[in-house]
Amino acid sequence: MTFASFIHDAEFINVAYIVAFGLFIYGLMGLTGPRTAVRGNRIAAVGMAIAIGATLLVDGMGNFGLIVLGIAIGTAIGIPAALNVKMTAMPQMVALFNGVGGGAVALIAWVEFRESDGFSHGEPLYVAIFTLFAAIVGSVSFWGSNIAFAKLQELLPGKPIGLPGRGQQVVNLLLLLVAIGAAIAIAAGETSEGLFILILVASAALGNLMVLPIGGADMPVVISLLNAFTGLSAAAAGIALNNTALIVAGMIVGASGTILTNLMADAMNRSIPSIIAGGFGGGGGPAITADDGVDRTVTSTSAADVAIQLSYASKVVVVPGYGMAVAQAQHVVRELASELEKRDIEVSYAIHPVAGRMPGHMNVLLAEADVPYEHLKEMGDINPEFQRTDVSLVIGANDVTNPAAREQTDSPIYGMPILDVDRSAAIIVLKRSMNAGFAGIDNPLFYDDKTSLLFGDAKGSIAEVLAEVQEL
Ligand code: TAP
Repeated sequence: MTFASFIHDAEFINVAYIVAFGLFIYGLMGLTGPRTAVRGNRIAAVGMAIAIGATLLVDGMGNFGLIVLGIAIGTAIGIPAALNVKMTAMPQMVALFNGVGGGAVALIAWVEFRESDGFSHGEPLYVAIFTLFAAIVGSVSFWGSNIAFAKLQELLPGKPIGLPGRGQQVVNLLLLLVAIGAAIAIAAGETSEGLFILILVASAALGNLMVLPIGGADMPVVISLLNAFTGLSAAAAGIALNNTALIVAGMIVGASGTILTNLMADAMNRSIPSIIAGGFGGGGGPAITADDGVDRTVTSTSAADVAIQLSYASKVVVVPGYGMAVAQAQHVVRELASELEKRDIEVSYAIHPVAGRMPGHMNVLLAEADVPYEHLKEMGDINPEFQRTDVSLVIGANDVTNPAAREQTDSPIYGMPILDVDRSAAIIVLKRSMNAGFAGIDNPLFYDDKTSLLFGDAKGSIAEVLAEVQEL
């Protein structure tokens, strides 16, 4: 056996695939902790390189000029984008990359349809079914992810956009029925490419219209759901193409995306069927409007006053949010906490599961600043403690502290569990302006009599407070 025939042998390719899957799974295990995550990511990347290499050896692979061109374009766009992206913009990048995966799967399905002249070459029925499934779900994922990207990038408003009442759900259901109806016709023997294009168009509209009505605060759930969709569509394409690499990689993404969606949905008190029906996060308008009679007087404070308030406290809870990430204030926050601890003040950190813009965002930032892990408290553990907290120091957090989620049934975030900051004796909120958070809604916490606002960039503000505390 020559070397060339050895590496093109199906057995060799299968062994290479198994090595690749082993590396995917081993790499994924590394992602369970911040210390091993980078290594885990590299190991999985090596696995992916092996899977790609093995796929290029599959019999009948051709058009290498086009393949090299595709790889070159992808590399030229992907590497600088990944190197230059800010940590705070990571979620939209993930949304975009995820969408590209779904789009690729939909295009592969289209190519398969054309190559087989509409599955008319005696393909088994399952090939048609899985290809059509991949076309629908991949297309929904591509277009849905683009909308998620636009919302996260603030190219589109974070507020829900959609038809009132049940109208949106009816339109979405009709689009789904059109896509499924056309798919059934093709599976039953129709070979018209127009029908296949109709599937892609109806799924594209569905992807857009499914994500547009979802409010900003619910975006984390939708991103992980779209991630799961992409994985499942890739696995379906793998079954249709009889490609083990696609099946396994797709199922890993599909399964982990589904588990993450479940965890996120639980954390946000949402149900998955209501996400798919497109009816969540879409109710009501802003929690408070300009002429609703609510007293909107806010009390602003100074670094010196905050320092005095903190130094008289015996229990302080730091509530970090997206603004802390933008300001990169985590290091100076840790310094302030150490200074307070020297004075026997108990300091803990309240971690909301969707604070920031990605799962575990606050944990990563605080770990980077060497905040002891045992000082970080999950929402369920810290909420009962707010009642005996002297000062809650809210650093660039907004939606995750919004009491409207508890009280205002018409609020888009109604039902979302929040950090019960308003139950502490005093609240200090650090932000730059009266702008809303990601959900685009006002926050009654800011007008609470117990709340004072320290305006300015969080890093600068905390540095000033720290200097004042050191003077005392
Ligand atoms: P947000 O509600 O987005 O509020 C961030 C706050 O930080 C704003 O009030 C902003 O006010 C302030 N801010 C921004 N830059 C600042 C700076 N340099 N210095 C000081 N303050 C600054 O954040 P959150 O409470 O963390 O909630 C997260 C939101 O994002 C939720 O709605 C969540 O559903 C959504 N989301 C989360 C994820 C995940 S997985 N975590 C993913 C996508 C979306 P100013 O502009 O006035 O400063």
